[in-house]
Amino acid sequence: MFKIYHFKRLNSTNTKAKFFGINSVIIADEQIKGKGRFKRNWKSSKGGIYLSLVLPKTTKPQFYTFIAALSAKKALNIKKIRIKWPNDLIYGKKKVCGILTELKEKKAIVGIGINTNNEIPFSLKNKAISLKYIKKKGINNEKVIKVLLKNFESYLKSKQSKIIRDWKRNSFLGSQVKVKTLNGAYKGIAYDIDKDCFLILKDKNGNKIQVREGDIIINSL
Ligand code: BTN
Repeated sequence: MFKIYHFKRLNSTNTKAKFFGINSVIIADEQIKGKGRFKRNWKSSKGGIYLSLVLPKTTKPQFYTFIAALSAKKALNIKKIRIKWPNDLIYGKKKVCGILTELKEKKAIVGIGINTNNEIPFSLKNKAISLKYIKKKGINNEKVIKVLLKNFESYLKSKQSKIIRDWKRNSFLGSQVKVKTLNGAYKGIAYDIDKDCFLILKDKNGNKIQVREGDIIINSL
């Protein structure tokens, strides 16, 4: 179903993807201006996986982000990797994969970055890790991409309830977290995910708080 376009070097696969049709997948060996959430940059040196899928626009793009996380998690096949809301794969507390979903006219662009064989810059070494150091061997990027896209295609046909159920099973739910949102910071247990993919936090008084955006810091897993 997906049509793959492979480039050696791009500014950002998400930016490039905006010029391609639905069901295109843009892959780059490296990115010069890789984009992260909240306008952060995403270090994208050679060796990692950098790809963007072009999908039809939807009113619930968060499901694409969930599908991306699940598809990547299953393709990597490492039990200890968990999905952290809303868009990270983590190994312990370190990030191995980030997802950036953007809407552009009639398209949703789902960008996935995975640290596979790339070196992590020294300044990020306490926050991120490459899979080659987890597996203690080089990662076959082509194989990971192939399985990831196959998983993605299959989840696109799944019911939302199944996506949420599978996401929860592979997630960080149960961890003690701190959440930083535009409206303030909260502490508690990452308790649940609601039917719209928002995070439900339970604070120490038992209050449940719906979190719609923000950054999560895990205190204990
Ligand atoms: C984040 O965790 O902040 C999201 C990072 C998303 C990075 C990927 S790499 C492929 C695609 N192209 C980009 O410029 N960004 C996404």
